[in-house]
Amino acid sequence: MAEKRYDTIFSVDYDKKWGKIDKTHKSFLSKFLSFLPEKCKILDAACGTGKYWKLILENNCQVVGIDQSEQMLIKAKEKFPNCETVKIGLQEMCYENEFEGIICIDAMENVFPEDWTLVLKNFYRALKKKGYLYFTVELIDEKKLKEAYIEGKRMGLPIVEGEVVYNGGYHYYPPIKKVKEWLYEVGFKIIEEGLSDGYYHFLVKKL
Ligand SMILES: C[S@@+](CC[C@H](N)C(=O)[O-])C[C@H]1O[C@@H](n2cnc3c(N)ncnc32)[C@H](O)[C@@H]1O
Repeated sequence: MAEKRYDTIFSVDYDKKWGKIDKTHKSFLSKFLSFLPEKCKILDAACGTGKYWKLILENNCQVVGIDQSEQMLIKAKEKFPNCETVKIGLQEMCYENEFEGIICIDAMENVFPEDWTLVLKNFYRALKKKGYLYFTVELIDEKKLKEAYIEGKRMGLPIVEGEVVYNGGYHYYPPIKKVKEWLYEVGFKIIEEGLSDGYYHFLVKKL
């Protein structure tokens, strides 16, 4: 569902509409980069059009971008022909011990509740020991979440709290407490966290 929407709708003018980098995203990314050694390899998971690659490359790091949307990857490749891109889902990625850092920015809301730990484990496995992960969790109004749940149930959908189904789209907004439990279970340590620009930001480390 998300793949088709990004291929056919959002990729067309993504940079024009959403190309600006928010202050908090930039500051978390800078902190993330400051922890990494020079010339390291970073995975941008669900990279979209490569919005953050200029900043990463300026920091003398190499970037590999993965995404399930071919059209988003084409846009990234047009801007950064020398960067490697791979069409694969967060759920299917199978890198092992390969990256000093991973970012997954403004994308986890597309992941189903039952896939969250799978994706976090995939990040964990892809990181080298003591590697860092920066990811965001989108936030929405509690009232809207409750209404979406009631409406979903009324429509007979097998949804759980936090899931929102809207004109052909889908998002899942897990409680931040739950995200912290998952991170702990998988083996990540939270280094820094913060709430701003409509997202909860996590900078975590593989122990
Ligand atoms: C809002 S865009 C964010 C892109 C980029 N990270 C940024 O911050 O500009 C969300 C991206 O996540 C990708 N995506 C959504 N679900 C995915 C999944 N399960 N596996 C891989 N990519 C996914 C979409 O194709 C899209 O490119």
